[in-house]
Amino acid sequence: MQRLDRYLSEAGVESRRKIKEVVRAGRVSVNGTVVRSPESKVDETKDEICLDGQHISAAPKRIVLMMHKPAGCVTAARDPEFPTVMEYLPDPYKKLMPVGRLDKETEGLLLFTNDGDLAHRLLAPKSRIEKTYYAEHLGIAGEADIAAFQEGCVLKDGTCCLPAGLEIIAEGKCLVRVMEGKYHQVRRMLASRGLPVSYLRRIAEGGVQLGDLPCGKTRELTECEIESLESVQFDENFLD
Ligand code: URA
Repeated sequence: MQRLDRYLSEAGVESRRKIKEVVRAGRVSVNGTVVRSPESKVDETKDEICLDGQHISAAPKRIVLMMHKPAGCVTAARDPEFPTVMEYLPDPYKKLMPVGRLDKETEGLLLFTNDGDLAHRLLAPKSRIEKTYYAEHLGIAGEADIAAFQEGCVLKDGTCCLPAGLEIIAEGKCLVRVMEGKYHQVRRMLASRGLPVSYLRRIAEGGVQLGDLPCGKTRELTECEIESLESVQFDENFLD
């Protein structure tokens, strides 16, 4: 439910002040009955709202959602074999699309949106948004590994990565910060240093933190978090 004047304003009908006048003048009806109070509540999913007899459809609300993706599900709309991330989306959000992907065994922050422009901005190969991962691995990381990450890892198949951050937290535990999204990138970067990953969780994307969102749960991003995503920088020297 939302206020009638807000519904009309989001649908792009005049300014908020003008809308109040229009409603008070008796030009707006809800389910066939004239409503003169701009504050009255309407159910945007069911009510038929008309201005001067013309149906007014609400602008689809822009939604950006985060999920704490569990391990064991794939980032796909459907899969013949494994559960998908879509199964963890609560009903009202089933039409959102994932922004990028996490591997089946990787947990953590996965964004969803109905805003194609924002998704494109975040996924474009020239987009430079920092993604932070918490990893547990075999082997012992040291200064040489930090330096190799800073220079840009060369993966086992010869692929060169952009400079990245490696922060050692404890033996077998580290944070990895990358600015790109190659296939299995973090696992392959650590493997290229002889540090095979046993557990991986994405904990931040740009200014958006996973925080204490429980595994398998979702929440909508705040306006401030969405703005931080919109301000993502492009590498203008990047050649497709
Ligand atoms: N790097 C990986 O190896 N896996 C992911 O899911 C994301 C980044």
